[in-house]
Amino acid sequence: KLQGAPARDLFDLMEAARDPETNEAFSDAQLGDQVATMILAGHETTATALFWSLYLLALDPVAQEQLATEARQVPADGEADLDRLKFTRAVVDETMRLYPPAFLIARSALGADEIAGMPIARKDVILIAPWLLHRHEKLWRDPNAFVPERFLAPAPPPDRFAYLPFGAGPRVCIGAHFALVEATLALARIIAAFRVTLLDKDPVMPMGVVTTQPDRSPMFQITPR
Ligand code: HEM
Repeated sequence: KLQGAPARDLFDLMEAARDPETNEAFSDAQLGDQVATMILAGHETTATALFWSLYLLALDPVAQEQLATEARQVPADGEADLDRLKFTRAVVDETMRLYPPAFLIARSALGADEIAGMPIARKDVILIAPWLLHRHEKLWRDPNAFVPERFLAPAPPPDRFAYLPFGAGPRVCIGAHFALVEATLALARIIAAFRVTLLDKDPVMPMGVVTTQPDRSPMFQITPR
């Protein structure tokens, strides 16, 4: 980027950022770390969530129309207005319930403990499975159905420990807010402009490979609205 030219992207913004207390810029090594985080933790996860959102909306034309109607009320060139994209946000939330991009969260025990009567030794690895929690029959009504309304008022918000797309506790995802804003706006923009259908009708199966990946790339058709 030329000196003084406006920022073109997130990297330019990070390069120009200054610590509000010390006025220091990121070092080159820190900029490298930020880029690596954006690509590894921040890109694949959100892209996966968007894939499954489009897949679920292609299978549910009624929900897709509802999202399109909401999204078209928000001007494409104006300030993004998340308060007016409540259904779109509920679709993102419900997608990450059914297909949590991070399907497993691992922890190593600091010391001996007990979980539900099972003894835990120091350094034992505990796997917490959002995939299972999010589809548990005791925690959700009709757990395998795509029902975005679960995440819309007047429905009560889900129990904090029943819904963990971004984890919980001190190591909760630092990018959760960024990801939710990005996914909601991207989905609204795509569905406002295009009707999305699936040409390839065979069910797409999820595969756990770091993130919850589709087992193949199904053919979609996108038609301008
Ligand atoms: C839909 C998108 C995303 C999902 C589903 C997701 C999921 C998660 C989960 C479950 C954790 C906790 C892992 C654990 O407890 O072991 C986590 C941590 C983390 N995420 Fe995300 N994430 C997303 C987007 C992002 C974005 C956009 C960024 C960066 C801009 C990001 C950066 C991080 C970082 C740095 C951590 C580690 C935090 C720590 O250990 O203190 N994530 N993410």
